Amino acid sequence: MKHTVTTFQKAKDEGKKISMLTAYDYSTASLMDAAGIHGILVGDSLGNVILGYEDTISVTMEDMIHHGAAVARGAKNALVVVDMPFMSYQTSVYDAVVNAGRLMKEGRANAVKLEGGQSVAPQIQAICQAGIPVMGHLGLTPQSIHAFGGHKVQGRDEAAARKLLEDAKAIEAAGVFAVVLECVPAELARRVTKELSVPTIGIGAGADCDGQILVYQDMLGLFSDFTPKFVKRFAELGTAMQAAFQAYMEEVEQGAFPAKEHSYGIAKEVIEKLY
Ligand code: KIV
Repeated sequence: MKHTVTTFQKAKDEGKKISMLTAYDYSTASLMDAAGIHGILVGDSLGNVILGYEDTISVTMEDMIHHGAAVARGAKNALVVVDMPFMSYQTSVYDAVVNAGRLMKEGRANAVKLEGGQSVAPQIQAICQAGIPVMGHLGLTPQSIHAFGGHKVQGRDEAAARKLLEDAKAIEAAGVFAVVLECVPAELARRVTKELSVPTIGIGAGADCDGQILVYQDMLGLFSDFTPKFVKRFAELGTAMQAAFQAYMEEVEQGAFPAKEHSYGIAKEVIEKLY
């Protein structure tokens, strides 16, 4: 069954949890889809985990389209949400609609995600009016990392908590179908989840959000530049991959790989005719 913005809403209404992961390529998306993951986010975190940047600022529309289309080919059932990169929507409502449209047409997204509250409500409204579902993103919004002064938990004092709640209501009114809450205290996320009628998807926001999302390299132990407190490792694939690379190298050096079963044969007469 294809997951849609409607099935996301139904899950919240029925009290069923939504599972999302990030992915950036066809084969990973296919595995997640086969596992039954409800939604795949082609996050601009690809700047960190795929392209090796320090932050998400340099990620381009072309990067998002390229990886979005690859994921969309692998995700038969999961809802594919593609991130709008830095400065693809902040500049104007017009830019926001044009770029969201490109992510749908060229990146084959089912929905787009953008960061921010009240200040980007006009963009959200215009994109929704163009028939494109929008996921919001509040709390620690990585495109504003330089304004925050680093990776810090958001909404901890009264003013910040109130602002986050107001931003959540503002973007809900503008039309988002779901809101990612990143790095916010669990109690605050619970309150936002209760006050919104659309689903909340938490990452470092406690267990009471309507769904959860993780960057897949973090949960599989494939990325160790930094590991936030909220990450749980469900496997240690980085260690397993490094061991496999080493075993391969050793077998190549020793001539143990490729063995006969990995090689192709040819008729003896053909080879003999060559001399
Ligand atoms: O880019 C991303 O991976 C994200 C998630 C952390 C929610 O926005």
